[in-house]
Amino acid sequence: MNKTLHKFDILSFQTKLISWYEENKRELPWRETIDPYKIWVSEIMLQQTKVDTVIPYYEKFMEHYPTIFDLALTDEQDVLKDWEGLGYYSRARNLLEATREVVETYNGVVPDNPKELGELKGVGPYTKGAILSIAFNKPEPAVDGNVMRVLSRVLLIKDNISEQKVRKKFEEIVREVISKKDPSSFNQGLMELGALICTPRSPSCLLCPVQQECRAFEEGIQEKLPVKMKKKKQRVVSYHVLLLTDDQNRVAIEQRPSEGLLANMWQFPMIPTDGNDIEMVVKQKYGLKIKVAHELGTVKHVFSHKIWNLTIYQANYLENLSIKVEQGSSLQFVSEKELETFPFPVSHLKVREIWKDTIST
Ligand code: ADE
Repeated sequence: MNKTLHKFDILSFQTKLISWYEENKRELPWRETIDPYKIWVSEIMLQQTKVDTVIPYYEKFMEHYPTIFDLALTDEQDVLKDWEGLGYYSRARNLLEATREVVETYNGVVPDNPKELGELKGVGPYTKGAILSIAFNKPEPAVDGNVMRVLSRVLLIKDNISEQKVRKKFEEIVREVISKKDPSSFNQGLMELGALICTPRSPSCLLCPVQQECRAFEEGIQEKLPVKMKKKKQRVVSYHVLLLTDDQNRVAIEQRPSEGLLANMWQFPMIPTDGNDIEMVVKQKYGLKIKVAHELGTVKHVFSHKIWNLTIYQANYLENLSIKVEQGSSLQFVSEKELETFPFPVSHLKVREIWKDTIST
């Protein structure tokens, strides 16, 4: 680290970064507040999600849950409904659990110290640093992928940023270079530079406020940095999805288990494609006699670690066989209107659209 910052003009870097940020920052709804609860919500939503996608969700959240108490007192299913479409739903579940802890343990006051803040569910080193610096103006690092990209270029750091210990190294560097006068603008300036100028591909170096300080630019290797381990290819898994309707045109849905991928979200019945007869599987799993009519289309959904290939079938409910079924397998038949009140993952929202198309034509 001593070597990394050797001959690096920290003051010049801080000054240029902060004035550029003040002049060029985007007006974003969470930049109109320093309420730690609101900053917290915004930072959780912004993880792995683009600013433009987050804005309407953030605004809806602030309307429904203007204070930490409003959120903490809400049912998980209602919160998931407001998170519907944003993805990575464990973020919403963890946020809710953590706000409940803040209400119970700290009378609703978000802690302003690293230890208590970092112990809250879903508050990792990045979120902790973002809240401490933006809401409380404390000189704490908030290092995410954007920040590592900017600093790996400016300081010519060739370590693999996928490694935990490398992120820690960046945190130590930020502790050294962060402005003690305005940590909030410094950290947000790094994020904003990463979003607007120092982009992953074709960075706009000619417009960069810290071009003179940038060692990668000097060597012309900015596009080679940061060094990142290649992502593992996602595994493809295939399912049959049933649009199973009864004689009142209600459709069958089920709730996912309380643990794992998309926990507690709702979906149309999904059956792994493993060569088994669909009607037979439905009989064994749910105790229902059904008739599969025809295929309605396919949906592909890409998660960070897997890909779902869904084939959608229209099917008709015939009778409940009242036999013993697998534990935790139960279907609920709901009307088109009721369907809207359950939180669905994006993949099944796409299936829902296919169903709506079939009943409107
Ligand atoms: N990405 C992560 N945090 C952000 C913030 N506060 N503003 C804009 N983009 C961000």
